[in-house]
Amino acid sequence: MKKIAVLGSTGSIGTQTLNVIRENPEKYEVSALSCRSSAPLLAEQIEEFHPACAATGDQETARKLAERFPETRFVWGPQGLAEIAAEAEYDILLNALVGMSGLVPTYNAVSAGRTVALANKETLVAGGELICRTQKKTGARILPVDSEHSAIFQCLKGYEKSQVEKILLTASGGPFRGKTTEELRSVTLAEALDHPRWKMGSKITIDSATLMNKGFEVIEAKWLFDLKPEQIEVVVHPESIVHSMVQYCDGAVMAQLGVPDMAIPISFALEYPHRLRNAQQRLDLKKTGSLTFEEPDVRTFRCLQFAYDALRAGKTYCTALNAANEVAVGAFLGGKIAFCDITDCLDEVMQRHRPSEDADLEELMRVDAQTRKTAESILEV
Ligand SMILES: NC(=O)c1ccc[n+]([C@@H]2O[C@H](COP(=O)([O-])OP(=O)(O)OC[C@H]3O[C@@H](n4cnc5c(N)ncnc54)[C@H](OP(=O)(O)O)[C@@H]3O)[C@@H](O)[C@H]2O)c1
Repeated sequence: MKKIAVLGSTGSIGTQTLNVIRENPEKYEVSALSCRSSAPLLAEQIEEFHPACAATGDQETARKLAERFPETRFVWGPQGLAEIAAEAEYDILLNALVGMSGLVPTYNAVSAGRTVALANKETLVAGGELICRTQKKTGARILPVDSEHSAIFQCLKGYEKSQVEKILLTASGGPFRGKTTEELRSVTLAEALDHPRWKMGSKITIDSATLMNKGFEVIEAKWLFDLKPEQIEVVVHPESIVHSMVQYCDGAVMAQLGVPDMAIPISFALEYPHRLRNAQQRLDLKKTGSLTFEEPDVRTFRCLQFAYDALRAGKTYCTALNAANEVAVGAFLGGKIAFCDITDCLDEVMQRHRPSEDADLEELMRVDAQTRKTAESILEV
């Protein structure tokens, strides 16, 4: 029986992880759960899964839930998440938090040499160098949950890394594929939230519309698979059937295909190195029709280019890009700015950024806080 701690259990990945666990009660038990503000859903989850500990966004909610569930130990805030990651009993920490809130829990788990199933890509965008340096020291394992990285992880199995020529990260293109910069100026929040293939949390859905999500995945892939930026190519594939590919030194390309369903990569991370039998829908290529591939339009969707630029510039450029993006996406979701302001803000922040070298966790947090202030002043929010 594997003990799973699910951080961000009330979100899109969190609830899908609990679906997998629910379907396999003989294999998994839940040892920790967390929410920020969705306390009613967290309460339902605690009632069903009886975790030993749970984290809430604030102390008052933790106090109320502790009265209702005396068997569960409650913690709260960023410190509570950090504590669960460092000290709770678990075999796998599934980090499904969104944004920078995921960095410290991943860092604590990796510092303690534990196993992390990582959905929170912002961990590796903001702190990839630090996490990998720490992982090398402790021998901790990071298993990818993002579907593209899970696909690459699967395509790499059984081969030597030195024989990899490049990886091909597929991208759906998001809801605005084919639009011009001029057309993007008038898109609405509702249109940006209407992703053609995946149903996800609001932040990643907006990141998919700007292609920042794909840019973040390029950075995530660099750290997960120890690649150079020029070994990571993005290919737009609107059908989202091929989840990503690896090209080897003899020209052979290995691809992982499947229906767009996060249950597959989540199961693969939980059950690694084995596969979990499930009754999900199967891919039927006869009904799928044509699979198409095209070049991403980085002139219109500049966020993808920003990610490559930040990755090549190194130091704390990716940390700053992540922080500015969180502020800008938050402002767009709050109806305070237009869609194109997100990209313009990131451009300005990247130009103004004064990077630090060899940043430790404290320095990354300082850069994050400082960059948020810069982005807020640019956007006047
Ligand atoms: N959704 C997908 O299909 C998908 C696919 C690949 C990768 N990912 C990645 O997985 C991560 C999670 O995405 P998601 O779509 O599941 O997000 P989501 O639906 O917004 O869920 C985020 C979870 O984190 C909690 N949370 C948010 N901000 C927090 C904070 N500051 N402190 C503590 N907890 C906080 C939320 O709690 P409340 O519910 O209380 O707000 C919720 O449980 C992201 O990094 C995303 O890029 C997602």
